Formats: sequence, C-alpha cells, structure tokens
Amino acid sequence: MKNSDFIIFGLTNATKIAQDVANKLKVKLGKCTTTKFADGEILVKFNETVRGKDVYIFQSTSKPVNDSLMELLISIDALKRASAKTINVIIPYYGYARQDRKSQGREPITAKLVANFIKYAGATKVVLMDIHADQIQGFFDIPVDTLKGTWIMMDEFLKTHKFKDLCIVSPDYGGVKRARNIANSLNAPLAIVDKRRPAPNQVEVSNILGDVKDKDCLLVDDMIDTGGTMMAASKLLKERGAKSINIMCTHALFSNNAIEKFNKCIKDGNISNIYISDSIQASYEYRSKNIHVCSLAQFYAEFIKIQSENKSISENLYGKQIEKLNAKK
Ligand code: R5P
Repeated sequence: MKNSDFIIFGLTNATKIAQDVANKLKVKLGKCTTTKFADGEILVKFNETVRGKDVYIFQSTSKPVNDSLMELLISIDALKRASAKTINVIIPYYGYARQDRKSQGREPITAKLVANFIKYAGATKVVLMDIHADQIQGFFDIPVDTLKGTWIMMDEFLKTHKFKDLCIVSPDYGGVKRARNIANSLNAPLAIVDKRRPAPNQVEVSNILGDVKDKDCLLVDDMIDTGGTMMAASKLLKERGAKSINIMCTHALFSNNAIEKFNKCIKDGNISNIYISDSIQASYEYRSKNIHVCSLAQFYAEFIKIQSENKSISENLYGKQIEKLNAKK
C-alpha cells in the first residue's frame, strides 16, 4: 500500500475517529477547514492536494444532523472539483436511516433522498456501519460496503465478561436478524421483545418470546436514541427474572436526557453494562465504569488497507472477527 496514493480527512463530526484511523495506518491526517458564516452557510476548504488520489473522508451525519450532512456534501463537491481519483465516503453513523420506507401515505423516504444527494455530489463509494436496515444499500447507485462493527463490541464484551447462561435479546422485531446472527455465532439462545410504538418516541413492550429467566441477557440494537426502547426492554427482562441485563448498541445518540436515565438504571442495578462504539463523536464523553466505548478505528484502518489491496472485505475483515469470537466460546 503506497501511502502517497491515498489521503484521509475527518469532518467536524468525525475528526477523532479519522485521526485514530490515520494513526493506526501511520499516515498523516489530511488538513481541511470548515467555516460557518453568520447566516449559517458552510464552507469546506481542503488545504492540500487531492489530485489523482484515493480520498477517504469520514463524517457521521449525527447531531446537528442537517449541518453535518451539508458539510459532507460540500466536501464531496470540493474533492470532485479538485480532481480526486476516488471519493470514498465513510459514514460511521448514517442519519435519516430510520426513514427507509413509507409507513403511511404521504411520507418521504429520506434515507433514499440522502443517498441521492451523496451520489450526485460526486462520491464514488460509500461505507456504512451497522446500518439500520440492509435495504439502504440499494438506495445508492454507487458501490456500498456495509460494515458490521457489532463484532468489535462483542469481542470487547466477551473479553471482559464470562457468562455461563448468555442469552441474546432483540429489543424489537426489526432487530431479530442482527441478534440472531450474534446468537448463532456464539451458539447462544435468542429472545425477542414484542415492542410497539403507539406514537413517535413512545414505546410499549408487552411480551418476550423466549426464556430469559436466570439468564445473562445481552440486548443488541443498532442505535440508542432517547433510550426508550432499551429501558422498556430492560424493565421487562428484569420482571421476567433475567439474572443480568447488558446492552450493546453501535450508535449512541443519547438524545434528550438518555444518558442520565441510563446512569440511574446502572446505579439502581437494573442494567449491568452498556457497550457502544465511537461512531458518534460524543461517545467518549459518556464513558464510565459500566459504559464501555469500543473504538472502530482499527476496523476502519483494516478496511482501508484491504480495500486498497483490492481484496475481499467479507473474507478478510468479518471472517477474521468471527474466527476470533468462535475461539473465545
Ligand atoms: C428502531 O427501529 C431502532 O433500531 C432503535 O430501536 C430505536 O431507534 C431506538 O430509539 P429510542 O432509543 O428512542 O427508543
């Protein structure tokens, strides 16, 4: 891999992860500056040449969602106009992913709209992480890699805890495939929480499919937003006799006062551990004895290396993670 052929940049919501990836690859992070004008307009300027280079640009389209998205689009445009050879957009957290279908008449499919923006701005490839729904891959008319960072958190989780009676739990029907993959790879039983949303941001859980009594439960999901889903599921698991309740979620949005609520659950002994990734830049601020932040930097560094060698991602990146997990069982 010739370092001079590629360059990594990190936008406002992903400067730390981009720097960490550059450090792992032993390259200098590219310099760019984002300026915000008094009226709210954004200008992004790349301070070094990208001509003929493979560019990897990191940005999470998390809070402030629309500014982060606009900053990304403007950057892609600048890179295209500066003759970058390829523009590989790495989005650790893809905002608007939950608007992936019309659940009622006259609703938008914003995840598709955003995909169109990214393509038309000039991206040549998109790299997503633990995406909310796999069909989002098809929203892009350019190559997409959807990476599975859950394995990184799983690895940390199994390193720190030894459970005899582990049970993987999906907090809703939408997450069953994700939870089942993990349960299968660990040879652990699976349970599913019957969740309904009577209104936006309201959660109702009524039943659990599967046996959780005296089990060390691991609730797995793609994201925690307000925390309503995980807190309702944890409460029900406790009522049904779970021995311990642990949570694993790639994207820790922690909107409103979610972090205070989780810290209270931990203090009251209702939740034992929470594993999150650093896909959201603020994740490190939430770190505590029981809130573990797992870095995706090594994973991304390996991805960039494998991609630059034109090798298979599934064989070299996931394959290695699953082998490691199986060795721990
Ligand atoms: C829903 O389908 C998602 O996977 C999450 O379960 C949901 O977005 C979490 O939101 P909250 O934390 O606000 O319940």
